[in-house]
Amino acid sequence: MPATVLVGAQWGDEGKGRVADWLAAESNVVARFAGGDNAGHTVVVGDKIFKLHLIPSGILHPQVTCVLGNGMVINVINLMKEIDQIEGMGVSVTPERLIVSSRAHLITPAHIALDAAAEKARGSGAIGTTLRGIGPAYMDKTGRRGIRAGQIADMEAFGDALFEMMERANVQLVAQGQPPLDPKAATAEYLAAAVRLQPYIRDTSAYLNERLKAGGRVLCEGAQGTLLDIDHGDYPYVTSSSPTAGGALIGLGFGPRHVDRVVGVAKAFSTRVGAGPMPTELQGALGDRLRGTGENFWDEFGTTTGRPRRCGWLDAVVLRYAAQVSGFTDLVVTKLDVLSGFDELKIAVGYEVNGKHVTTLPTTLRELEQAQPVYEIMTGWKEDITAVRQPGDLPTAALDYVRRVSELCEVPLRSVSVGPERDQLVHFGN
Ligand code: IMP
Repeated sequence: MPATVLVGAQWGDEGKGRVADWLAAESNVVARFAGGDNAGHTVVVGDKIFKLHLIPSGILHPQVTCVLGNGMVINVINLMKEIDQIEGMGVSVTPERLIVSSRAHLITPAHIALDAAAEKARGSGAIGTTLRGIGPAYMDKTGRRGIRAGQIADMEAFGDALFEMMERANVQLVAQGQPPLDPKAATAEYLAAAVRLQPYIRDTSAYLNERLKAGGRVLCEGAQGTLLDIDHGDYPYVTSSSPTAGGALIGLGFGPRHVDRVVGVAKAFSTRVGAGPMPTELQGALGDRLRGTGENFWDEFGTTTGRPRRCGWLDAVVLRYAAQVSGFTDLVVTKLDVLSGFDELKIAVGYEVNGKHVTTLPTTLRELEQAQPVYEIMTGWKEDITAVRQPGDLPTAALDYVRRVSELCEVPLRSVSVGPERDQLVHFGN
């Protein structure tokens, strides 16, 4: 039984958490492969709202073992807080249910301080990172001076490595006019969390390969989205990892022959949090309407940072590109219910760039910043669709909209979500 990879088709926040929750019901293992607690997945089960940053949504299914893969960067203090919080809500998170890769890199207070300092130094060119230390942790990884979870096994050497890392960061912080860390206090706090993490740490690549060999079904739960990918996103306004399908293999340590399905998740409109180009962004009343007021947890405000998200019409150029980069076999469209009540809806099917019509994503930031969307106009629908569970019960205009999206990105439509609850899904046969 092979693996499914779940990937965001836009700039993150596509609703992957709720799709992962649905696919986890038919999985034995759910594994995160990239990023860290910059992610925020919201899953609603009955009257409980789970906000997960590091732990895969699969934890809410008792038969599932969750894995934090080697491609992730993990803040041990925040992971232990999240474990405590989820356990406090009645979900068991023992080392039998959650396994952390000994090869995963750790985010320390040094990375968090350096992330803030780097953003400050960028001034008006700031990326708008989540300030979770993601970029500096991946820089230490590729710079071959990072600390991996497996090092916790030798607590004394681990403490020394942490202390050294903070002293090194202090040199940079002071040079940038920022307050230095207290290496002794910060190391002591980190060590206390690391002691608790130790029983969770294993060789997850070996574990996953064993499970796959024995016929287990693995769901690889992507965080962020294609346009935030370090290689394929709109660099430099990206995160520092590979949230696309290729990243799943690198970030978990098994081969491509195990993957039989790549599910792309796209929101029915576009959102982006942080800086960077977004050709279909809507300013004013229309954007505000898509965003919501923030009263509901599903409104467009960041799960991790609370920042209002930039909102705009759906961009099929972006979706087609995401399908190409990851090889989507299935498409899931989320939040279709938010589009109820518009007279007309627009989908970008191409761009005008310097007087030229293009239908593929420009490769340079400059061109992307200049891209003017070319829209196809679709008829809207007035009906509330939150109670719909069968494709045939959707208003014709809503069906036309999602079918057109699937056609434009040349990926079969698998499901549409019409609300935040677990059962608010409409499945299409394919
Ligand atoms: P970083 O990952 O914190 O370094 O942030 C880099 C960029 O990715 C910023 O624009 C963030 O807003 C964005 N980003 C990172 N994680 C997420 C996510 O889970 N959802 C949406 N945007 C994200």
